[in-house]
Amino acid sequence: MEEELLRELEELRRRGLYRRRFLPEGLKVLCSNNYLNLSNRREVKEAALRAVETYGTGSGASQLVSGYTELHRSLEEELAKAKGVPACLTVGSGYLANLAVITALVSEGDLVLSDELNHASIVDGVRLSKAAKFVYPHRDAKAARLFLEKRRGGFRRCLIVTDGVFSMDGDLAPLPELVELAERFDCFLVVDDAHATGTVGLSSLAYWGLEWKPFVVEVGTLSKALGSYGAFVCGSETLVEYLVNKARPVIFSTSLPPPSVAAAEAALRVLLAEPSLVERLQNLSREVKKRLRAEGFDLGPAEEFTPIVPLLVGEEERALGLRDRLLERGFFVQAIRYPTVPRGKARLRLTVTLEHPPEVYAAFVQTLVEIWK
Ligand SMILES: Cc1ncc(COP(=O)(O)O)c(C=O)c1O
Repeated sequence: MEEELLRELEELRRRGLYRRRFLPEGLKVLCSNNYLNLSNRREVKEAALRAVETYGTGSGASQLVSGYTELHRSLEEELAKAKGVPACLTVGSGYLANLAVITALVSEGDLVLSDELNHASIVDGVRLSKAAKFVYPHRDAKAARLFLEKRRGGFRRCLIVTDGVFSMDGDLAPLPELVELAERFDCFLVVDDAHATGTVGLSSLAYWGLEWKPFVVEVGTLSKALGSYGAFVCGSETLVEYLVNKARPVIFSTSLPPPSVAAAEAALRVLLAEPSLVERLQNLSREVKKRLRAEGFDLGPAEEFTPIVPLLVGEEERALGLRDRLLERGFFVQAIRYPTVPRGKARLRLTVTLEHPPEVYAAFVQTLVEIWK
């Protein structure tokens, strides 16, 4: 068995798909999702420390047993209030949140429409649900519409699911069209705001100026712009009640540790009190992308103001080579390869965060120009 595993690992190495972890100490990390640098904010750290003192380091059980604390309840209420949605539920991670929502809402005999570039946790949720799926071309609401016109009648429930900001491309889902489709064809619309929360504003819906409707489910993480760990699902009171009763990743997994919950709520408060943080992040993102595009780098369809910067390379091996040369120069930008992105579409996924001043990004672009040839 061991030999078989080693053979597979060797095969991954041969195809440029081998992965290993890095210790980022001493490097300028330019691939973190701590977009607003809130994990280093004093108020956020202090909230986590206070929670440790009061509640200890772990929650001890799932939410339905004894793992639901006043901190969890408070964060859920604050999130719901901030988003203008009736209710929210905390979940163990963004990965689990997508599994929870999709597997609870649809099963055999139901239909899921999913963007081809959706996050792996959505893909896995759909697989696990056993619902029929239609994977539509990236951001192609027209293709989704045509499919629904022809096939919606053959299924019981229907769910449309999309990243709000695409995690590996930095572009946006066409939410106005998707909301309209969901309403017209009686579908749930699940928007995964893992990379939208705190970067485009409070949510993708808010960015597009759309009002929440009862068929819309907002998923988000506490682990990226909110600088903590965990995730949330927001929607109707009924949805939350349903998930508490039906979603296996909620029922059968220990609830979030109190310090993570307290840190996330403190980060949310900072975000609400200082919307200028989002503006600063967006301005820095625009500046970095402008510089890179001016130097001729291909960033695909990435929106100017999102902090995700896909430096498209193509070949897996070349992406790895570029990553290693950057490491030698003190910058850590991870190479993203299949299966995270399609084969032959490897990239360096640079992220813009408020952890670094603009000069660091200017130096990075300069270095990249030098090593790219
Ligand atoms: C779009 C999207 N959804 C979900 C997740 C998973 O979130 P978490 O890291 O909290 O499990 C990620 C994280 O990379 C993501 O990019």
